[in-house]
Amino acid sequence: MKERIVSGIQPTGDLHIGNYLGSLKNFVELQDKFDCYFFVADLHSLTEDFTPGQPKADQIRDLVKTFVAAGLNPDKCTIFIQSQVPQHAELTWILNTLLPMGELERMTQYKDKSGRQSANINVGLFDYPVLMSADILLYKPAFVPVGHDQLQHLELTNTLARKFNHKFGETFSEVKPYMQKPLRIMSLADPERKMSKSEPGSFINMFDSPEEIAKKLSRAVTATDAPEGEMPKGVKNLFDLLLEFGNQEVYDDFTKQYQAGTIKYSDLKQTLASQIAQYFQHMREIKQQLDTQERQIDKIIADGAVKAGKVAQSTVQEVKAKIGLI
Ligand code: TRP
Repeated sequence: MKERIVSGIQPTGDLHIGNYLGSLKNFVELQDKFDCYFFVADLHSLTEDFTPGQPKADQIRDLVKTFVAAGLNPDKCTIFIQSQVPQHAELTWILNTLLPMGELERMTQYKDKSGRQSANINVGLFDYPVLMSADILLYKPAFVPVGHDQLQHLELTNTLARKFNHKFGETFSEVKPYMQKPLRIMSLADPERKMSKSEPGSFINMFDSPEEIAKKLSRAVTATDAPEGEMPKGVKNLFDLLLEFGNQEVYDDFTKQYQAGTIKYSDLKQTLASQIAQYFQHMREIKQQLDTQERQIDKIIADGAVKAGKVAQSTVQEVKAKIGLI
C-alpha cells in the first residue's frame, strides 16, 4: 500500500512560475510514489477579496486544467474541488470546537494577511488554518507537501489531531511536511521580495506566451547592490531560473561569462526567456486543448469528488461516532 499525500492550491488566477516550482512540479513527481489527493482549495480562496460569479468559477476550472496540463494524471491521483466534498466544512466545524482562539491569533500568515486586507478581516481568514487542518486530517495522510510559509499551519494540524485523540480516543496520527528543496524565486521587479501575483511586473505566468515572457524578462532588475564578491540578487535569481528551466550547459556557459566579466544581461535574459518558453510549451498546448474539452474536465472533477468523498465520508463517520453524534 502506498502512503498517502494530500495538498491543495487556492484558485486565485494563473499560477506563476514560482508557484509551479514550489508546488505543482512536485505534485507531478509525487503522483507515482504515493496515493495522492490534490485539490483546488476554493473554500480557502473565499477568505480574500474576489469577484463573485463566473470569474470565480472560471478560476476553479482553470486550476483543474492547469493541474492536468502540468502532468497530473487523474488515473494516478485524485484531483478534486474542495467545496464539492462537504466533509471539509463539516470537520472544520468540529475541529473549531476543540481549539482555543489564542492558537489562531498567533498564526503569522493570519497576521500578515489581516495587515494587507485590513478592510476584510473576516472570520474565515481567522479560521483558515482549521479548514486546512480538516483538509488534511480527512484523508489521514502520511505527508503534506507544503512550502515553508505553511509549516505553522501543519503544526496546528498536529495540535488539533492530538486534542481530538486526547478527548475522543486515538483517531488521527501525526502528519509530516514533505518539504521541497528550499528554492525562493524572487520578484523580477524587486529581487529582495518573493515573486508574487500581487506585485505587477514581478512574475511570469506558466502559460504566458514566449513574447510575454521575453518582454517581462527584458525588464527584470539586475542592477542592485551586492556585497563584494556576491552576485546581485536580481542576477542570482535569473541564474536560478536558468538552472531550473534551462540546461546545465547554458548555465555553465553564462556562469563563465559572469566570472570573466564579459556577460551581457540582455543575452542572459533572451536565452532564459526562450528556455522558459520552451519548458512550458507542451503544457501551454495541452492547456489550450483542455479549454476545448470541457466535458473531459467535468468528468475529472466529478470522478474526483466521488473518490475523495468516499474517504472523507468515512473519516467523518468515524469522528461523529467517537464524539457521540451518531
Ligand atoms: N494554505 C495552502 C497554501 O496557501 C493551501 C492549502 C489549503 C493546503 N489546504 C491545504 C495545502 C491542505 C496543503 C494541505 O499554500
